[in-house]
Amino acid sequence: MSKAKSFERDGEKYVELISEEKINKRVKELAKQLSDDYRDKCPILMGVLNGAFIFLADLIREMDIDCEVDFVKISSYGGGRVSLGFIKSKKGFDSDVDGRDVIVVEDIADSGRSIKFLEKMFAGTNPASLKFVSLLLKEDNAVVDFKLDYVGFNIPTKFVVGYGLDFDQKERNLRSIYVIEE
Ligand code: IMP
Ligand code: MG
Repeated sequence: MSKAKSFERDGEKYVELISEEKINKRVKELAKQLSDDYRDKCPILMGVLNGAFIFLADLIREMDIDCEVDFVKISSYGGGRVSLGFIKSKKGFDSDVDGRDVIVVEDIADSGRSIKFLEKMFAGTNPASLKFVSLLLKEDNAVVDFKLDYVGFNIPTKFVVGYGLDFDQKERNLRSIYVIEE
């Protein structure tokens, strides 16, 4: 896969926003913080499919505490570059979260609707704690009130791909994160 700082594909221009090295460094920092905060707790890391699968895989391998992994799947973008504004659950969690420390692992928070939706997925359950980590946050684009407990990078309101995030289901295997220039 391309490691170039910028390249063109199918008439689109991809410009590197966050390099592989910077991602790896930040993921290590987040993993250390989580390991310190959840020492002796064995949290459940709840990955949000599909976008967070690479982030979650890298994160747990940098953590030095026991943890469990589960996944939920939601959809919001419907394949395009603009959020559809309504979220659907495609798969709920399998674990018994009651009494457990749950860390929801997202790739990116944009409008914040997905995070709100995920919060509601846990309504009616009784976890010991429920926290949210997102690798990316489009800090100026929130349309609902939401809170993230751990954030990798604040980024501008631009469509980004790579490191698990998709563009019409493609480009997830790019190692850096790229902006697709309009
Ligand atoms: P929100 O509900 O508007 O906060 O959008 C969050 C979800 O939309 C994320 O979990 C991503 O899956 C997807 N998303 C938001 N922005 C981008 C982007 O720039 N590139 C790829 N996916 C994105
Ligand atoms: Mg996501």
